Amino acid sequence: MTMDRRVPSVTFRTRVRDESIEGPNPYRWEDKTSDDYFSSKRVILFSLPGAFTPTCSTYQLPDFENLYGEFQKKGIDEIYCLSVNDAFVMNAWGKATGLQKVKLIPDGSGEFTRKMGMLVAKDNLGFGLRSWRYAAVIKNGVVEQWFEEDGFSDNCETDPYGVSSPQNILETLKASASA
Ligand code: BEZ
Repeated sequence: MTMDRRVPSVTFRTRVRDESIEGPNPYRWEDKTSDDYFSSKRVILFSLPGAFTPTCSTYQLPDFENLYGEFQKKGIDEIYCLSVNDAFVMNAWGKATGLQKVKLIPDGSGEFTRKMGMLVAKDNLGFGLRSWRYAAVIKNGVVEQWFEEDGFSDNCETDPYGVSSPQNILETLKASASA
């Protein structure tokens, strides 16, 4: 992906808790647009192959959560984790990991990921279409810095992880601030 590219305009179908709803499942649909997530702020977006998968659940997501304050010191307003999973799965993942700071974005249809050029087949794992692992620093909806794992391909036998780790992105932000 080239720099200075605007993120695609899509609508995400999220599920939010609403105490006015009676019954055991007090949630309603709430549409969120790319503008809602990306306008008028500087954010990190990281995108991964699937909620509940081992590297994502054990390292990438909790490490971003734990380093949240460090990213804030570097001028980051929000950190978003996106996956080609529906809102029910993403909410369950957030609850299971005790997430407080990183916000989850459900790209269930894969539209955002496809328009970012990052949609890959993972049929070899029975996953269908998913996101390649990448991250970006995005300012006011425009990609400022891009972190894509090597080997972008369909049905990749491995799951490269390093370039899009929070540690690498934080080091890069620190280095660019002191340059
Ligand atoms: C992982 O995060 O460990 C993972 C991701 C995709 C497929 C299998 C594992």
